[in-house]
Amino acid sequence: MASPSPEPAAAAAAAVAETNDPVHIRRLELADHERGFVALLSQLSTCPDLTASEFAARFAELAAQGDDHVILVAEDHSSAATERRILATGCLFVERKFLRGGGKVGHVEDVVVDAAARGRELGLRVVRRLVENAREAGCYKVILDCTPELCAYYAKCGFVEKGVQMAVYF
Ligand SMILES: CC(C)(COP(=O)(O)OP(=O)(O)OC[C@H]1O[C@@H](n2cnc3c(N)ncnc32)[C@H](O)[C@@H]1OP(=O)(O)O)[C@@H](O)C(=O)NCCC(=O)NCCS
Repeated sequence: MASPSPEPAAAAAAAVAETNDPVHIRRLELADHERGFVALLSQLSTCPDLTASEFAARFAELAAQGDDHVILVAEDHSSAATERRILATGCLFVERKFLRGGGKVGHVEDVVVDAAARGRELGLRVVRRLVENAREAGCYKVILDCTPELCAYYAKCGFVEKGVQMAVYF
């Protein structure tokens, strides 16, 4: 999958815009359980709430994978700290292969933007950051699965169509 870099001037302008933006993109924190992270995921797929200890256990498992498993979230800093909610999220996990001389492949998963915050380029920002993480991790490609309706959105994020998805569900 291709993920072209923006031109240097465009990248600088994007960086300035991002600095001034009240919505900050950062890695998932344990406290995001209280900021609606699980409820946000339920806008993507079946996602019953987790108790605080269930959430903490899974968080610890994933955190142990370091930069091989990155969950980014978008948080709106224009609200008071105690009222902040997670508006968007996306995940990158890095698959280590024997192929390509021990190459790595990035997989983008679980991209969702809160219904009330769509159309503000949060999805674009999260996915571009995940692609950048994959590049920095040394991946030779980054891939994802989506429905045909979302091809145009992911094309805006720098992806091109390649192959087909197949699945066995249990
Ligand atoms: C798909 C989703 C993540 C997009 O997030 P978003 O923040 O609303 O999208 P953005 O504002 O960043 O859109 C970026 C560009 O993609 C386009 N776009 C967004 N959603 C699109 C869609 N469903 N189809 C076609 N183009 C789309 C936008 O028009 C925009 O283009 P523009 O800059 O030319 O106007 C969001 O709609 C969502 O969470 N949907 C439900 C969950 C889902 O389907 N997740 C993806 C799983 S693979």
